[in-house]
Amino acid sequence: MGHGFSQSIETGDQSMNAVADKDYEQFKQMFFQLTGINLSLYKEDQMKRRLNTLRIKREMPSFVSYCLQMRKSDQLLKECLSRMTINVTEFFRNRQRWDVLESKLTALLSVKPRISAWSAACSTGEEAYSLSILLSKYLQPGRFSILATDVDEKVLQQAHEGIYLERALESVNPEERDRFFRRDGLLYRIDEKLKQPVRFLRHDLLSDPVPGQFDLVVCRNVLIYFTNEGKKRIYRKLSESLNSHGVLFVGSTEQIFHPEEYALKPAETFFYEKG
Ligand SMILES: C[S@@+](CC[C@H](N)C(=O)[O-])C[C@H]1O[C@@H](n2cnc3c(N)ncnc32)[C@H](O)[C@@H]1O
Repeated sequence: MGHGFSQSIETGDQSMNAVADKDYEQFKQMFFQLTGINLSLYKEDQMKRRLNTLRIKREMPSFVSYCLQMRKSDQLLKECLSRMTINVTEFFRNRQRWDVLESKLTALLSVKPRISAWSAACSTGEEAYSLSILLSKYLQPGRFSILATDVDEKVLQQAHEGIYLERALESVNPEERDRFFRRDGLLYRIDEKLKQPVRFLRHDLLSDPVPGQFDLVVCRNVLIYFTNEGKKRIYRKLSESLNSHGVLFVGSTEQIFHPEEYALKPAETFFYEKG
């Protein structure tokens, strides 16, 4: 008797799980139609957990009904988009690696007198402005440009403003702080001259075509969210976007197991060069 009862609970649980899975599958399709973002290429458990908390908070009985509401409410959609993305960043994140980049840059400049760079998944802009600081030490204005992209429009707005709390500047040295920022109470404003070479653009690494050809591409701390298929797609794009001799600078989560499959040569830990 007891056994039969627990069996029926199990079967009940299984069918509820199946309904929940189907609901999420349908949600992914609807969300793709609405935003062009392919959630199937994001690690499922992680993403589902993040979105589920928000769905429950908004008192939506299912993922499908949640998406139907998003179609009607821009605010709900924006909130969901911000929850999907994790935007933690800072200037010169892992500074020692930026020091290696600086040495690579001097070599790159001996063959390329002008540099075009791409900060892919730039979040609130600290990475792009770090590049601007670095490049401005070696190149006159007009000799370098930086395209900074992210899928999340909200962070791009902040990036465009270029105003930061002190904690974002922890790895900025005092000399750079004085030279490249203006203090305004508790806030730090990035110098206008450093903003000029930087252009921000909404871009989805998974579904949009590469946004140009570059000598230097920085893509860090984003691939951790994607499935292996998603990662492969992005590696292909990063390689495609590099000019010959171009340098790719990645984070710990972006290291490539078989760089030769993407016409890339490992140059040093966290760096690859286009053949
Ligand atoms: C943790 S931040 C990394 C910021 C910066 N690159 C760094 O290393 O400090 C990850 C960023 O990836 C962005 N992102 C997530 N999915 C993306 C996608 N499909 N295409 C472009 N950017 C994406 C998020 O919006 C977020 O701003």
